[in-house]
Amino acid sequence: MNKARRPLIAGNWKMNHGGANACNLASAVKRTTAEFDKVDVVVCPPFTAIAWVAEELRGSAVQVGAQNVHPKDSGAFTGEVSASMLLDAGARWVILGHSERRAMFGETDTLVAEKTRVALDVGLRPIVCVGELLEEREKGQTLDVVKRQLNAFASILADKPGVGAIAYEPVWAIGTGKTAGPAEAQEVHAMIRARLREISAEVAEKTRILYGGSMKASNAEGLLACEDVDGGLIGGASLKAEDFAGIALAGQKLA
Ligand code: PGA
Repeated sequence: MNKARRPLIAGNWKMNHGGANACNLASAVKRTTAEFDKVDVVVCPPFTAIAWVAEELRGSAVQVGAQNVHPKDSGAFTGEVSASMLLDAGARWVILGHSERRAMFGETDTLVAEKTRVALDVGLRPIVCVGELLEEREKGQTLDVVKRQLNAFASILADKPGVGAIAYEPVWAIGTGKTAGPAEAQEVHAMIRARLREISAEVAEKTRILYGGSMKASNAEGLLACEDVDGGLIGGASLKAEDFAGIALAGQKLA
């Protein structure tokens, strides 16, 4: 972590806690992270809980995000939710291009780029995910795959330097208990930073690059200590407030 960038710790609740439980968890996150003044903390509940969680967190530093968005603003798109609706509900962030959406819902680089554009235009802060499959890592294709995914949206993020973030999430590390070691993570994060620097020094310096994939309180410090790791996108460990706060504490200590 470089002290020039404020750490960002975001919880991706995935399809968990859509109702009253979401408020309980949000309230516990608010309580357990209340003293941390050097990190940005974001929770991303399912759509159904965003407005409730935003209400629960009103007046606290913890911010709310969504896990997906539709690129159109309104109209005949049954089952979809637009960026302005998310903003109305109280969301300030949105996770885009998560590997689960790419793998299970057919999201392409082009669609992820389109969503990034819309989120930024409407005033939501995107956290755009990239990451290689296990077989791609084994074939030595990690940097090429991540660069391809990154190239689809990097120049869009560059329009508003520092507003959006990027999450490097090796797919083989998500929900598996396997984490990229600090050196493995740093190698990819450094490549992402170098690619951003080709666009502009300002974008490279201001954009936070998060690590995601089985991050927990016990390994957070090692990962966050890497020069180009500016925070975390946390799945499983974000569902327990104490575990999530333990990760945010690691960020707070290093900031
Ligand atoms: P995990 O998920 O922390 O449970 O591995 C991370 C993510 O999918 O964002």
